[in-house]
Amino acid sequence: MGRILKHLKYPVRYPGIIPRAAENYFRMMVLGQKRLRAVEFAVNYVCQCQCAHCSVEFLGQKRRPLLDTAQISRVLDELHDMGVMNVNFTGGEAILRPDLRELVRAARPRSTVVSVATAATMVDAKIADDLRDWGVRIVTISLDSADAETHDRSRRHPGSYDKVMNATRLFQERGIDVFWCTILTDENAINGDMLRLVDRAEEWGVTLTINFSCPVGAWHEQPVGVAPELKVLHRELMQREHVRWEGHSNYHKEGCPAGIEKLYISPYGEVMPCPFIHVTFGNVLQRPVTDIWKEMTGTEPFHEVQEGCPVAENPTFFVQYLSPLKTAEVHPVSIEQIGAKPTPISATTALCADGVAESASA
Ligand SMILES: C[S@@+](CC[C@H](N)C(=O)[O-])C[C@H]1O[C@@H](n2cnc3c(N)ncnc32)[C@H](O)[C@@H]1O
Ligand code: SF4
Ligand code: SF4
Repeated sequence: MGRILKHLKYPVRYPGIIPRAAENYFRMMVLGQKRLRAVEFAVNYVCQCQCAHCSVEFLGQKRRPLLDTAQISRVLDELHDMGVMNVNFTGGEAILRPDLRELVRAARPRSTVVSVATAATMVDAKIADDLRDWGVRIVTISLDSADAETHDRSRRHPGSYDKVMNATRLFQERGIDVFWCTILTDENAINGDMLRLVDRAEEWGVTLTINFSCPVGAWHEQPVGVAPELKVLHRELMQREHVRWEGHSNYHKEGCPAGIEKLYISPYGEVMPCPFIHVTFGNVLQRPVTDIWKEMTGTEPFHEVQEGCPVAENPTFFVQYLSPLKTAEVHPVSIEQIGAKPTPISATTALCADGVAESASA
């Protein structure tokens, strides 16, 4: 029930997506099709921080050209046709991308919830004005601790906690919804920091997204798996009205949306199931996203919503999909290098000529 109420906030708050949400549900429930819901589009890997946990640590390739404005715009058109209702521009730091205005416009902010992820170290009143004027509805700001010193240490960027608070105020004054995004760890659970952060978010009128730590990028040597007590705490925190994890936003069922409902696209055009699964199923410069998504949803386990966060919680998933990264020279690795199993035929996804996904079992 709590999940449904949290879910219903979105169409109420962002009525522009209602016609497309209705179409998506019609296609899924009446026509038995699959629809993509959200895309995280990384538009660069440049950044002012040096976080100890940074997931994109090994994804940047200095000499590789980034997708240009026209290329990203073409992909955004295709994603719109595929039903995507939320485009989150991320990075690195998306606000350092000089053509961000054109990219936001290409994401069609009237009928899509366009959001931007940032560590907020560069946000000032001008940037806040610009994002509002361009049509950005949500800004997701990373906050690693309720304690300023701890946050600054985690970001390796003095003064960044104050910047987060200042940016939160600037966006809220302009009617942009602010989500803080944080990571639940053994340490911040035990020392009470996470509980303080949950309260701080409530005081500030902010939605708090709580993720588990993902053992990828700069954190690739972290142990895989989440202690049972931490899972219990996560479940308890999810009862608070202003707290969520991304598994709450799915069409039907709570769980990990990687691949089936959500994609991550790198600034070079590589298409992955989520920002923490560094396995590419193809490049948008070579194939339509629709075809790449079809292949992804035809590969286990991305054909259905999974329980929990497989990257953080599932050692079997980790061994199959992420351990090859440890020896790979280039990240992401390709799905061919992984040798993943195709999904059993009863659960596979067929795509119509117009790029709409259809369940073969329907
Ligand atoms: C890669 S950052 C990009 C956007 C921006 N630079 C920022 O830090 O907010 C996106 C989000 O992923 C989180 N993140 C990075 N590495 C992570 C990891 N290994 N496990 C869990 N979350 C991680 C960051 O804290 C941030 O909230
Ligand atoms: S997590 Fe974000 S802010 Fe931190 S180093 Fe990575 S890209 Fe930069
Ligand atoms: S694998 Fe984890 S981080 Fe990625 S989409 Fe699923 S729940 Fe989110």
